Amino acid sequence: MDKPVDDRPYSPGLEGVLAGETALAKVDGANGRLMYRGYPIVDLVRGGTYAQVAELLWTGEWPASAHLPTAPLPDPVLVALRALPADAHPMDALRTATSVWGAINRPGWPPTVEQARTLTALAPSALAAFARLREGKDPVEPDFELGLAAGFLFQLRGEAPDEAAARALDAYFITGAEHGFNASTFTARVITSTQSDIASAVCGAIGALKGPLHGGAPSEVVNQLHEIGSVERAEQWLDDALDRGERLMGFGHRVYRAYDPRAAALRTVAEGMAGMADWLKLAVAVEDVALRKLEQRHPERALKTNVEYYAAAVLQGVGLPPDLFPATFALARHAGWTAHVLEQASANRLIRPDVRYVGPAERALPGVAASS
Ligand code: COA
Repeated sequence: MDKPVDDRPYSPGLEGVLAGETALAKVDGANGRLMYRGYPIVDLVRGGTYAQVAELLWTGEWPASAHLPTAPLPDPVLVALRALPADAHPMDALRTATSVWGAINRPGWPPTVEQARTLTALAPSALAAFARLREGKDPVEPDFELGLAAGFLFQLRGEAPDEAAARALDAYFITGAEHGFNASTFTARVITSTQSDIASAVCGAIGALKGPLHGGAPSEVVNQLHEIGSVERAEQWLDDALDRGERLMGFGHRVYRAYDPRAAALRTVAEGMAGMADWLKLAVAVEDVALRKLEQRHPERALKTNVEYYAAAVLQGVGLPPDLFPATFALARHAGWTAHVLEQASANRLIRPDVRYVGPAERALPGVAASS
């Protein structure tokens, strides 16, 4: 094969490539720090609500208080959700709801903060409705008094959520709200850069988040801990998994080379939750063994605990079924996705990188005389 003539640098997976500028989140992977518009994630979890954090991301302002209830579902969205098979992937249900909302509302260009609020408020109602419909139950109307996390739990179960569970889920939503140029956010920005609408951008983002390398890990963490079963079995189980070349779920990150600050914040939240004691004890003990084994096997690469590990503890603690974990992550990430849509639109340039061609050199089609 001819030597490629294009010798510009290429980084597989765009690792380390600067592909844009943002004022939304600073992800400091080397030092294990995460800030939204300059505010450290631990302080936001300790002193804020998801509604405040979402407003901060959308507008740059930190409101003294903010209220974001879940939104009622338009009839065509409900009709579409009812038409899905009960075993549909919850992420597909969420993407379908967003798509139908976009088709009936035709959100225009440029995207607005109001559109961002509406889509973020619609998603929990859609996911809760699908979760009930697949069990043969009727969807529950929103309670406008409740914030997004509490409202989601209410619409899922049809009864007022426990305050501690609602607060823990709100904290999870804050840690999941935004994280720089991850795959789903980048997807949303690419779609926005074509001057397409915010619903299309969020549909694409949900599709990207559905992949197990991005949003699928917390339910795998739960399976992993269930399989390990007890602290005594951890050493052997983890060795066997690593010998088989498997990855330990909830460890490693493309950007963080230190302990993920979101994992630390969520561990504190999980420790404060009632009924978590045994499960958390197992998670903490397994984490210690896993970190030691990863260090032994990959001394060249710092593989630390990532957000998904303790996200699993919190989501399990609030009583969500594991197959809803990825879509619940999507609910949290709506604030970040839509904030990036607004940011991209405010200084838009079509995202259209180059690709290096590595196929055959120009040649004649069999049976056809060469054109020149
Ligand atoms: N368990 C075991 N080994 C791991 C690992 C893990 N969780 N994560 C990375 N490694 C190993 C890889 O096997 C690879 O080793 P090799 O060079 O001998 O093949 C090395 O570390 C580098 O991995 P790489 O795939 O290049 O890192 P990445 O930056 O592309 O991967 C993740 C990042 C998140 C995809 C990866 O760490 C992973 O799959 N983690 C488990 C899934 C997870 O928790 N996802 C949630 C992310 S928030």
